[in-house]
Amino acid sequence: MSFVVTDNCIKCKYTDCVEVCPVDCFYEGPNFLVIHPDECIDCALCEPECPAQAIFSEDEIPDGMEEFVAINAELAEVWPNITEKKDALPEAPEWDGVTGKVQHLER
Ligand code: SF4
Ligand code: F3S
Repeated sequence: MSFVVTDNCIKCKYTDCVEVCPVDCFYEGPNFLVIHPDECIDCALCEPECPAQAIFSEDEIPDGMEEFVAINAELAEVWPNITEKKDALPEAPEWDGVTGKVQHLER
């Protein structure tokens, strides 16, 4: 089992999550972060840190967001590791809470 980054991270990317991860298992794309499912130790520390409430345990993913399990697994293999917080994307305030952002996911 693993934690999973879902839709509301897209176009926000606050990165508060990476600071608390004890195993540095976040990977960064242009406008989204993912968690490597084989590296995550299920500690749950990141979940409350996300201002966008985009992180869920794999077994508690909201209906309609199941595809993010595969998206995290796929992109964690190709994107670079991120271990330090950085500025959120400038458009984060406008996009936080917008639904269906997967169409804007940049790979
Ligand atoms: Fe890292 Fe723990 Fe979050 Fe997994 S649950 S991504 S190990 S902080
Ligand atoms: Fe994304 Fe939330 Fe982390 S918006 S970058 S999962 S703090």
